[in-house]
This record gives sequence, structure tokens and C-alpha cells, in this order.
Amino acid sequence: MEGHSSKPFAAKPRVIVGLDFGTTFSGFAFAHVSDPDKIYTYYDYPKAGGEKPYCKTLTASYYKATAKGGWQLHSWGYPARTEYERDIQALHKYLKSQSPTSSAPSENIPTSPSSGRGVENFFSKVFNSWNNSASKEACTQPGTCNPPSSSNQPGKSDAPPTQSPSLGVFLSRFKLHLASRNTEELSASPLPPGLTIEQVITDYLRELGDLILKHLQHKYGAHFSNQLIQWCITVPSIWDNSAKATMRACMVSAGLVSPHPVVIVLEPEAASFHCQRVMGELTLQAGDKLVVADIGGGTSDIVAQEVVSVGEGGYRVKEVTMSSGGLCGGTYVDSRFIEFLEGRVGRCFHECILKHRSVYGQLIKEWECTKSYFDCGQSTTTINVPSKLAMEWEKSDQETGITNPGGEDYGEFEMSYKEMQSIFDTVVQENLDLIHRQLVEAGGKVKVLVLVGGFTESPYLLRKIKQSCGAMAQNIIWYAHLYPDPPQRRTL
Ligand SMILES: Nc1ncnc2c1ncn2[C@@H]1O[C@H](COP(=O)(O)OP(=O)(O)OP(=O)(O)O)[C@@H](O)[C@H]1O
Ligand SMILES: [Mg+2]
Repeated sequence: MEGHSSKPFAAKPRVIVGLDFGTTFSGFAFAHVSDPDKIYTYYDYPKAGGEKPYCKTLTASYYKATAKGGWQLHSWGYPARTEYERDIQALHKYLKSQSPTSSAPSENIPTSPSSGRGVENFFSKVFNSWNNSASKEACTQPGTCNPPSSSNQPGKSDAPPTQSPSLGVFLSRFKLHLASRNTEELSASPLPPGLTIEQVITDYLRELGDLILKHLQHKYGAHFSNQLIQWCITVPSIWDNSAKATMRACMVSAGLVSPHPVVIVLEPEAASFHCQRVMGELTLQAGDKLVVADIGGGTSDIVAQEVVSVGEGGYRVKEVTMSSGGLCGGTYVDSRFIEFLEGRVGRCFHECILKHRSVYGQLIKEWECTKSYFDCGQSTTTINVPSKLAMEWEKSDQETGITNPGGEDYGEFEMSYKEMQSIFDTVVQENLDLIHRQLVEAGGKVKVLVLVGGFTESPYLLRKIKQSCGAMAQNIIWYAHLYPDPPQRRTL
């Protein structure tokens, strides 16, 4: 842990807040100093509807251009994605109403958009290419967009808007901009001119911080102030010092400092600390080695540690290898699913998604649910196809004389176990290699392999890790940080 002392403490902090600013999701937990073992996790983020209950919200922001040529944060978290999608639809309707004879400019859509890594990125690319070629009014440059118009009430009416709706910039995965230089190709949304990564992270943290403070005031009383909070934030261990310094500066600019300096905690250290608290009968002693694998949505962060002290001296670990990591979190499996779908449905897939923006959201929701059950004993997996996509698919097949191998029903299709495997395997293998290498470098059998991060909730990934790394660790600890209710299968 790294503290930063510039000001004397005004009063002792009463509540410790741990912020997890993730690549795909962000969240927080807190504890009161009077009962530090009682840790509260927050689940009640504003949602767009239909997402599974989760202890984090989307790391995403939607910005709109201001009349003065700058950018203003319009929404963050899940609502950012929903509002961006609504604006796209409104713009689409408007453009069609302006030139009813022209169809959506599907020729300009990249033929292999999902070759970029990451699903959000895929859609940014598709829509940016569409915006650039189809609309002088739609923009991603500050000062050149039409100011938000009062007639822009997307989703409220089927009538096309009479004024051009303003389309802002949707940003996701921006944490990756701080990743160390040596990480491979980034899949973060590119930032438009006029917006810096510091600004984007600061704005996001400020909003999250406001939500946290309101929640704490609700819990401890309206008098509860920022002064009483000790803010802590976790960062990947693969980050260099300049990335950590930027993160600290963003916390300060977002006002998440109070009089108590921000504490920066390495993500695998936090995971390791948590793990030793919940290990039950299995106890760690000084000299024990453990490997922590944090496999989230964007990145995998793997580190080997040795316990330096426990008990009275506090739980302390030191890293015994260079931490390693890669861009092989769960969202790369999503990208591969989209690629698979393109192959199955054919050309009309892109056109349909441009025409009916809700289709993409429905598909991803369906996939989120389906992928979490992969390898739970079933030999085939059924994917429900959103009705609009089913219609376009059938129409396109009729026009081209293709016969659907799945029969006449375009409303669902089956995927074999092998097909599902092919979607998972490249990403899974990248993770296995990373973990394996750290286990080897740690030298000899480690006491515990700790698995954290959302993607480790995949039964398939878990089985593969056990199979390929089980012999090199005496124990594997897997901590599911999902909401206590099991995920429910949802229909579209
Ligand atoms: N049961 C499951 N099966 C497969 N994937 C899952 C399951 N549950 C969650 N995930 C995936 O885990 C990912 C989210 O993990 P997490 O919340 O740890 O990411 P993050 O902290 O935002 O990312 P990072 O740590 O890379 O910054 C998503 O891709 C989600 O789809
Ligand atoms: Mg994470």
C-alpha cells in the first residue's frame, strides 16, 4: 500500500471505502472502523434494465459536445450506453427522414469489424464509420456537433425528430489508456480531440464518488461528510509508476481525498488479503507462496507472492516474480461470439444491427447469460435470436436462396459444445499460459492459487485452470463475488 501525506489529518476517518475502478466494470465496498470485519458491498447502481444483479456498474461514459466547443459528461455507467444507443437510433431516424430513398450506408461498414479486440470497440468502429460517411451532422469533434436539441427525445416516439439530434461520444475501457506501454494492442475507445484521459477518469470517479457519498449519508445520516472517509483505490500490479501517479491525481481532482490521503492498493494484493481472510481452515504462514490470478473483463493480472508476515505483524506479502498480464479478460470471449455470429448469419448481420440498435443489446444480454452456463453439463447451447434479427436473417436467406441449416426457425439456433469451445479457447489458453508461467517462475509447488475477477466465474475457465495448473498448487481458492442469488436465465 502506498499512502501520500501532504496535509495533517483533521479527524480520524470513520469509514474506509475501497474503490475498484475496472476496465469493464467498477464498484466499491466499505466498512466502518468500529466494525471493520463487516464489509458492505453496493449493488444498487442505476441500470438500463435486464442486466443481471452485479456488484459493479459499467465503466463507460457518454459525453456530449458543448456549444463552446468543449465536452460535457452526459451520463456514466449503464445509462451511458443506453443513452448513446438511443441517440444513435434517433439520428438514424432523422437521416432517413431527410433522404428517405437512401438506405443505411451498409457498404461503408468494415467487413470484419470485430477483428479489433473488444465488443464495445467493435460497435464504436461500426458507428463511427457510419457517422463519418453518412452524416456531416453527426460528429465526434467538439464544437462541430449541433447542440442538444429539445426535440431529441429518442425512444419516446416513432416519428422522426424535426431537428438533427446530437450524437455524443461513448467511451469505454478507458482504464486501458493507463496500461503500461509494453501491453499489446489497446482496445480502449480512442479519445476525441479536446478530452484527456485524466479528464475522463476524473469525471467518472467524481460521479461514482457522489453516488458513494449519498449512499453513506443514507446509511449513517445526512451529517456524514467526505471528511470522514478514507478513500482507497486498487490498481493493476502491471501498471508503472506514472500510471499510478495519474490515478492518484485523478482521485484528487475528483475530490476523493478528504483530509486523508488516498491509499493505492495493488489489485492482486487486495485479492490476496481478502483470500487469507476467507480461507477458513487453511492458514498461511510466513514463507508460503501464492499465485494470484485476477481475470476480469479487460485484463488478466497474474502475480506470485510470498507471505512475509501474518497475525500481529499484519498480513504482508512481497512479490517474488515480475507480475505479468494480458488483454484476455472475459469481454474478448464476447468479441469472438460476435465474430461467430457474423459467420453464421452472414452479411445482413451488420445491416440489421445498424438498423435496429436494440438488437445488439439483446444479443449481448443473451450471451452474458449463456456464456456463464457453458460447461455445466449440456452438450448443446441454444441462442435465442432477437426477433428483428431473425426476420432480417430469414429475408436475406430467401433473397440469396440459402437454406438455414437450423430449419425454418430463425428465432433460435443451436451451438455445439465444440463451437462454444472454439469461442472460449483462444482466450482461455492465453490465461492458462500466463498462470502456468507464473507458477513455474514461483519455483515449486505454491500453497495457494487464488482466482479472482469476473471471468473466473466461468465454469469452463475454472475447469481448465484446475486441469492444467492443479498439480502445481496445493490449493485453488476461487472467490465468487457475484450477488448471492444465482444468475437467472432471462428470455429476450
Ligand atoms: N459466470 C461467468 N462466466 C463467464 N464470464 C463471466 C461470468 N461472470 C462474469 N463474467 C465476465 O467477467 C467480466 C467482468 O469481470 P470483472 O468485473 O472482474 O472485470 P473488471 O474489473 O471490469 O475488469 P479488469 O479487472 O480487467 O479491469 C465480464 O467480461 C463478464 O462477462
Ligand atoms: Mg478488476
